[in-house]
Amino acid sequence: MVGSVGVGARLEVSTSTEINGEIEYLPEDLVPVVLAENNEVTNGVQMILPYAVTEPEADDEITGEREAYMASILEKYKRSLVERTKHQLGYPTRVYVNYGALSNLQHFCINNCGSPFIESAYSIHSRQFEVGVLDWFARLWGIQKDEYWGYVTTGGTEGNFHGILVGRELFPDGILYTSEDSHYSVFRAAQMYRMNYVKVDSLISGEIDCTDFKAKLLLNKNKPVVGTFAEIRLQNNHKEKPNNVMADSILNISIHDSSILHFFAGTTVKGAIDDLDRVIKILKTTGFGEDRFYIHCDGALIGLMMPFVKRAPKISFEKPIGSVCISGHKFLGCPVPCGVHITRLNHIKALSRNIEYIGCQDATLMGSRSGHAPIFLWYALNQKGHRGLQKEVQMCLKNAQYLKERLHASRISVMLNEFSNIVVFEKPRNEEFILYWQLAVQGNLAHVVVMPNITVAQLDEFVRDLAEKRAIWLREGKHQPFCAADVGKENCACPRHQ
Ligand SMILES: Cc1ncc(COP(=O)(O)O)c(C=O)c1O
Repeated sequence: MVGSVGVGARLEVSTSTEINGEIEYLPEDLVPVVLAENNEVTNGVQMILPYAVTEPEADDEITGEREAYMASILEKYKRSLVERTKHQLGYPTRVYVNYGALSNLQHFCINNCGSPFIESAYSIHSRQFEVGVLDWFARLWGIQKDEYWGYVTTGGTEGNFHGILVGRELFPDGILYTSEDSHYSVFRAAQMYRMNYVKVDSLISGEIDCTDFKAKLLLNKNKPVVGTFAEIRLQNNHKEKPNNVMADSILNISIHDSSILHFFAGTTVKGAIDDLDRVIKILKTTGFGEDRFYIHCDGALIGLMMPFVKRAPKISFEKPIGSVCISGHKFLGCPVPCGVHITRLNHIKALSRNIEYIGCQDATLMGSRSGHAPIFLWYALNQKGHRGLQKEVQMCLKNAQYLKERLHASRISVMLNEFSNIVVFEKPRNEEFILYWQLAVQGNLAHVVVMPNITVAQLDEFVRDLAEKRAIWLREGKHQPFCAADVGKENCACPRHQ
């Protein structure tokens, strides 16, 4: 019987099973299942209340109770997803892309481990879809079919890990330059690969500060690499370069910023786009030839929006870049985290290995890879095409502008970067409000990412709610209008800058 099972309940489970008339007892340590009693708050952090895995009873198959129990949990979960989705404004995911046609593939274990381009011993894969998707992106980013290599990743983070790894393989003693507003995965990569990195300042917009970049590049041009850039000097085995040797450079260029977590550091909050052309120019004028640097472009969200905005800067392999990645669950709206990563074929040789066990070459970071993700990507791209994506991008940019104007009219400090759908504004000083609207926050800032599924009606409701509650917080003295330092004087609505 499972009738009494529920979240927070203590379970009664049977400890034995009858097999061919013999009683088989479960090993003792597998028997009791006790669920958490309360939704605990530890150190101010709300802990997850799990749906425990419970043991089937002997008669469950006959009574159907287990099926009914599981169906009720899943239904409850689905309802919470629908409700939470209505008030999800802070993170760049989207819903309501209909993938129903793919539901009959769900029970296959589709695994694309190894190179996407070569058949492997395991033939339940979706490489046909994966290479189709990669070709689409290669064309978008201006690289010929026979000149690129890539794969469908688990997301932008894996793309960053791979891009930076390729850079490090090409320049084992290279220094990683990245702006302080970069996504936290970049700093994690530096830690994992035990690389030295230089954190370059950002402008108020969140964009890399090219003056600081140039200064830091010049400062280190003729000095030993290791130690000079030891802002965070990790324990590593790198050999020091002799004096007067120019440091090779590995650059991570953020083409966009958005956020999926609200405690990270980095611009991901501000939606800025680094000036790739200017960065390349600076490298050249400071004496770094194309054979001395590697640029990885981190395009998580906006990387897939910029190509559809005529005036936006172009990401292209016609420029001396090494790799580009985007997330597939962001603008495209895949229902599982995934991404696309593309690099130059000649760069990948250093990483590629023949793996006998899978009967295939491999230069990816993981072993097994989702074969479902490429099908989701393929489906979404086929459904929308360039024209559909362009329409969605335009709508998002228009609605982001609308939100900015509404907040401005409510005298709330607000900033919106050009070509961006991330509207940055003063952080509401109320945790409940932040959680309700699932805003991403950092320091004094919060943001809304205006995705294609967010309607003007939702934005209106949000602004109304914020304006009303903020008036109360201000009256109660729980809230101060914040200042220009975070969004620039021209965007500031505090009494001093109005
Ligand atoms: C600029 C940037 N890079 C990388 C990532 C990480 O992407 P993912 O969540 O797909 O791993 C994000 C996530 O928001 C991001 O904003």
